[in-house]
Amino acid sequence: MEKKYIIPKFKHMLHGGDYNPDQWQAYPEVLEEDMRLFKLANCNEMSLGIFAWAALEPEEGKFDFSFMDKAMDDIYKAGGRVILATPSAARPQWLAEKYPEVLRCNERFERMSFGRRHNHCYTSPAYREKTAIINTKLAERYKDHPALIAWHISNELSGECYCPLCCQAFRDWLKEKYGTLDNLNHSWWSTFWAHTYTDWNQILPPSPMGETSVHALRIDWRRFVSHQTADFMESEIATVKAITPDIPVTTNMIPGFYNAVDYRRLNKNVDFASQDMYPQWKGRDPDDANVAMYAALQYDTARCFKHKPFLLMESAPGLVNWFQYNKLMRPGVLEQASLQAVAHGADSAQYFQFRKSRGSAEKFHGAVVDHVGDETPRLFREVQQVGKRLAALDEIVGTMADAKIALVHDWSNKWAIDEAQGFQKGDKRVIPTLESFYKPLWKRGIDTDVIGFEDDFSPYSVIIAPMLYTVSEELGEKLKNYVKNGGTLLCTYMTAMVDENDLCHLGGFPGAGLKEVFGIWNEEIDTLYPEDTVPVTADGKTYTAVDYCEVIHARGAEVLATYDGEFYKGMPAATVNSYGSGKAYYLAFRDKGDFTDMMVERLLAEKNIASAFDGALPQGVTAHSRTDGDTTYLFLENFTASEQTLSTALCWTDVESGEKLCGTITLAPHKTVIIKK
Ligand code: GAL
Repeated sequence: MEKKYIIPKFKHMLHGGDYNPDQWQAYPEVLEEDMRLFKLANCNEMSLGIFAWAALEPEEGKFDFSFMDKAMDDIYKAGGRVILATPSAARPQWLAEKYPEVLRCNERFERMSFGRRHNHCYTSPAYREKTAIINTKLAERYKDHPALIAWHISNELSGECYCPLCCQAFRDWLKEKYGTLDNLNHSWWSTFWAHTYTDWNQILPPSPMGETSVHALRIDWRRFVSHQTADFMESEIATVKAITPDIPVTTNMIPGFYNAVDYRRLNKNVDFASQDMYPQWKGRDPDDANVAMYAALQYDTARCFKHKPFLLMESAPGLVNWFQYNKLMRPGVLEQASLQAVAHGADSAQYFQFRKSRGSAEKFHGAVVDHVGDETPRLFREVQQVGKRLAALDEIVGTMADAKIALVHDWSNKWAIDEAQGFQKGDKRVIPTLESFYKPLWKRGIDTDVIGFEDDFSPYSVIIAPMLYTVSEELGEKLKNYVKNGGTLLCTYMTAMVDENDLCHLGGFPGAGLKEVFGIWNEEIDTLYPEDTVPVTADGKTYTAVDYCEVIHARGAEVLATYDGEFYKGMPAATVNSYGSGKAYYLAFRDKGDFTDMMVERLLAEKNIASAFDGALPQGVTAHSRTDGDTTYLFLENFTASEQTLSTALCWTDVESGEKLCGTITLAPHKTVIIKK
């Protein structure tokens, strides 16, 4: 396994983050002090210019790069490098005033006025033209600057616009997709409620003012928004790549499986992925282990967008300012959270932000440098400590997890489930279900990939695809071949009910050829009231079904568990079917966790998948690894506030101290020990 260097010009762990010298132009002494503090904080990177358009182009066509020139030079002199942003995430006042088409329309088709950020129309030719101009100027000016190592395209691209330009672009996108109105009408099942379209111009985006009921339209709108967001970003990428073809580009993603943009689509044309992360640490055990687990799931997803290391582009050195309760980050947690990202494939720990703003919305958001303005705060020292640890990890840069098990998460699939009217109204819990399968893997320290439909399935011995509701004939075929060729597939209730256009599969669920693969037929699905439970029996043990119980029939599959209540008592609740040289498991119910845990353990044992750490992991402690094919780097992470002792039959080397660790390894509270073999 070759190392994959995402920033070829700088093969070190990055440590730094967003820096906004444009806010401090009237305070030269602060800018001076920032460079001293930058070095003192053991930082080596700054992300510049993210919201600096008004400073860079104060009037249309009039540019002022003086602050940026100075910042680039100063950071380089201080030993740092720069990830330079294109400033499109917040536009200057003059731009909105002169070209109102750049302002978004809301879902009631009303034009918004100037304000906030992340709110430009992705279709507007004027916005694309103006971003191309400023991006070109930046690229031309800094193309040979030794500090420049990567481009940060815009910031957290998000949201949607309902302006006439976007409505037309939606129609054009649909024309491209469906070719004819007949095809569109069939795919959208528009004969329902007399919705048949007879002219492309009749199509409008879903809106509370009009269409809310055509599910396929609503899902296509989400796909279009993802496409248009990516297309806008790609137009920006083209401007900088034209001048700096060798400088890699990335864009940072909102944490929490941001729903409105398909991040797999967004990441297609960047050089590497970047994830922002703001875990809501509770400051107490055992909750923080769950918080950590959810962050880990997101990191494993981010790593698999490009199957390369990624950057942790933003995280809070301390508090954020937007949780309901902004509890202080407990001592040691920053170091632990930063190294957690690295354990899962990040080649950086970057913060929002270096210096705290003096005014406006984020004046109380955590920063490396607080309003006191010096190195005395506790969190400054914690940042120093993160920098110190990252500086010792050069040999890990470019290495990757070598996962044998993958979970599947697809944005369109989630949208289709969310849309479905039926089952449980409201949240059908797609992400928590994904988490429920991740948890048994996380606590056993199993390296896991999170992949999409287009990924290559062949590297994985086991694929778990919970709530895989949307399955096209093509995906059905791909899954079938995966199992036929020896793969182990686990799916759950709601599998393969609709195709990629949200049309129900005919001929019985699971559709797309999967009835045969699973050896079952799913006749009905019982949605339970929150207070309902149904007992399930497997191997003499009783488990508890909640929320969903499918009434399935084994048609060739072996029954692993049966319902022990309700009118479907005695019917299969979980099955396994041998198909070709592989196996297909089906879990017909949602369980409270222990059945899932037992099943995951069974799959790991069957396929000989183990943690890279040989010893037992206490509750709240986990292990994740990265490798270059020869050396395995193992991160032992203690997400509890107490000391933990682990046993190992092997001898490891501490990556940072070079010390040999044999027999037992002690982890202080919140500590991560990085070892290799
Ligand atoms: C991110 C954003 C940053 C900053 C941060 C605060 O979503 O990209 O600019 O606002 O949140 O937590």
